[in-house]
Amino acid sequence: MKFQSIEFLNGNCTLANISKRVFLVSFTLFVTVFLLSLLRGSLHSSSKISASTSLRSNDTKQCDLFSGKWVSHPQGPYYNTETCHFIPDQQNCIKNGRPDTEFMNWRWKPDECDLPLFNAKQFLEIVRGKSMAFVGDSVGRNQMQSLLCLLAGVAYPNDISGRYTLHPYSTVRFYADYNFTLATVWSTFLVRASDADPGGHSYSSIMKLYLDEVDKSWVTQIQNFDYVIISVGQWFLRPLMFYESGQVVGCYYCNNENITTLTNYYGLKKAYQTAFKTLMDLKGYKGVTILRTYSPQHFENGQWNDGGSCGRTRPFTPKEMRLDGYMLEGYLSEVEVFRAEEKEARKRGLQFWLIDISELMMLRPDGHPNKYGRSRDKNMTVNDCVHWCIPGPIDTWNEFLLHMMKIGYGISFN
Ligand SMILES: *[C@@H]1O[C@H](CO)[C@@H](O)[C@H](O)[C@H]1NC(C)=O
Ligand SMILES: *[C@@H]1O[C@H](CO)[C@@H](O)[C@H](O)[C@H]1NC(C)=O
Ligand SMILES: *[C@@H]1O[C@H](CO)[C@@H](O)[C@H](O)[C@H]1NC(C)=O
Ligand SMILES: *[C@@H]1O[C@H](CO)[C@@H](O)[C@H](O)[C@H]1NC(C)=O
Repeated sequence: MKFQSIEFLNGNCTLANISKRVFLVSFTLFVTVFLLSLLRGSLHSSSKISASTSLRSNDTKQCDLFSGKWVSHPQGPYYNTETCHFIPDQQNCIKNGRPDTEFMNWRWKPDECDLPLFNAKQFLEIVRGKSMAFVGDSVGRNQMQSLLCLLAGVAYPNDISGRYTLHPYSTVRFYADYNFTLATVWSTFLVRASDADPGGHSYSSIMKLYLDEVDKSWVTQIQNFDYVIISVGQWFLRPLMFYESGQVVGCYYCNNENITTLTNYYGLKKAYQTAFKTLMDLKGYKGVTILRTYSPQHFENGQWNDGGSCGRTRPFTPKEMRLDGYMLEGYLSEVEVFRAEEKEARKRGLQFWLIDISELMMLRPDGHPNKYGRSRDKNMTVNDCVHWCIPGPIDTWNEFLLHMMKIGYGISFN
């Protein structure tokens, strides 16, 4: 059975870490948005996306899956609250009273080809006898929840998390009929992290990141996974103290004139580098490593705590909106590291894939819960312009995933 492959979830995740992280996560959204407000306007970038990806099937045609536009799809979403029991309250926009439904009636149309509809049976046949892990923060979990719903018409998994000593925000599910294991593994930074303030944690307290030390809670024994989908970013917007070789090398928003100021992208790049290198060096790891790029947020007219919202009900066209500012910087940083590490991985016979959603999701200000989001920990609504409604445009990420798994994926950069 595949169970052995995920026993890493058993070890190396100490209770101290767990309780600390539980505490932290309730602040995720707040911290993010708080810091976004600090960031807004402080970065100027007119650089255009410099990397472009292509999918190469083994026919001669090349199609850049990620450049295109959103087109009307009146057939609507794949599932709803009745047909999928996995929709979490936080992202269950319809249940939470969102009155408009148009946001569910769009599909992504690449310029040069079609993105096939998600086919749950096909997906499950491809992953028969295999395992997949989403490693990262709550936006990665958001994609996993979309996947659970996309598969729900065909198969329901058993939650086998109870067999493991898991971080409470990690889960392991098993599709018995397909011998398929699906895990979410919680790691908001990919590298070792801890609170730097002995007084505890707050929206603006500083965290230490050990940029060259991987977070063992996700990486230990992950070598048996067939697909590892990595995505972080939101947590890098808070104050951070960066360590390398155990020494402080700089900080981000740490308010200490004696320490070199570094950008958060510096930390993000190093964290991804450490994660990718660790996977490449991991004995026995043969899995496909997939980077899902930075997921943009859409607060307008203020921030989460001063009336900011994302109340649009239609997508932007590519002419109306482009990724820019700190989100473009974050995206370019990730892609730069990915490009370098993918070359190295290829030499070693490993596959690194890119699900390049940043720019196309920038066009979907209508895809977030907005005021129809709910807090995970408290009985209260939150203005959430960071996560994505389920169902909604996030389902597209899994259409990309399946398509890549089907056609065999090649990547090239212009
Ligand atoms: C693509 O390659 C795979 C195996 O490499 C093969 O099974 C498949 O038939 C090929 N498809 C096309 C369209 O050539
Ligand atoms: C399930 O998958 C695992 C690993 O992918 C394999 O070792 C095992 O034999 C499979 N079990 C069955 C019953 O097919
Ligand atoms: C910076 O260094 C000076 C000289 O060592 C020291 O007096 C000061 O307290 C330090 N500032 C901070 C914020 O640590
Ligand atoms: C949540 O709050 C609403 C309104 O304040 C209340 O009606 C409802 O009973 C609460 N639900 C729970 C589970 O506490």
